[in-house]
Amino acid sequence: MRSFITIAAASLATFAYAMPEPIFGASKLAARDATCMSADEANQVALNFNHLISAYSEELANASLTVGFEDYSDSVISLIDAGCAGPLPLGTATFSSRAAFIAGQGNQPDIPFDQLNVWYNCDTVILRWRTTLNFTTPAAEFVTGIIVLETTAAPGGAQPWLINTVYSEFNSGAWLVDLGTFVPNCTAPARRLLRA
Ligand SMILES: *[C@@H]1O[C@H](CO)[C@@H](O)[C@H](O)[C@H]1NC(C)=O
Ligand SMILES: *[C@@H]1O[C@H](CO)[C@@H](O)[C@H](O)[C@H]1NC(C)=O
Ligand SMILES: *[C@@H]1O[C@H](CO)[C@@H](O)[C@H](O)[C@H]1NC(C)=O
Repeated sequence: MRSFITIAAASLATFAYAMPEPIFGASKLAARDATCMSADEANQVALNFNHLISAYSEELANASLTVGFEDYSDSVISLIDAGCAGPLPLGTATFSSRAAFIAGQGNQPDIPFDQLNVWYNCDTVILRWRTTLNFTTPAAEFVTGIIVLETTAAPGGAQPWLINTVYSEFNSGAWLVDLGTFVPNCTAPARRLLRA
């Protein structure tokens, strides 16, 4: 009981409440203006990140990410940690620099996916995606996720908007099924319920 109370108190003390921001407010601009990205530029940002996941190259990572790039994904950390407390604590950066992304992502198999939706404001692109992998395990499931791509303007560069921060979450439960780590029992009634 003691540990439960400690945890409850700690979460109350650290509870953070993010105020909603207007769609064109993320870069502190009150409204859309000429410094904001265009639809084509937003599409390029989405495609750049798509290709980093689906057709990775270090050249593209260098061309499309800032040096100080950070990537946050508890979905990925859960898979890395396999449900254990480490090596990466939940809530921390999955990759805390472009070099760390290159070292990590460069060793991953490519994951093809469809872009289901792309939204954008002045300097942020939101991408909803779904894997198009050909599954090999019998119970494999497609994986859907949402990625928020915060960018930094790089006027005059080959990529006018460099991805600076990524917040990415996806259906890591389905991913565990696809990895064969979680083997479903589709006749067990409890699988349909969240409660124990
Ligand atoms: C990417 O950038 C890093 C750091 O600047 C550099 O060491 C590396 O050679 C670059 N990779 C490619 C493929 O250009
Ligand atoms: C999946 O398999 C089909 C049929 O073999 C093929 O046409 C398609 O390109 C494959 N998709 C991927 C993402 O590999
Ligand atoms: C699946 O669940 C059913 C119902 O609880 C149980 O009878 C069966 O043994 C389970 N199968 C496996 C492979 O665990």
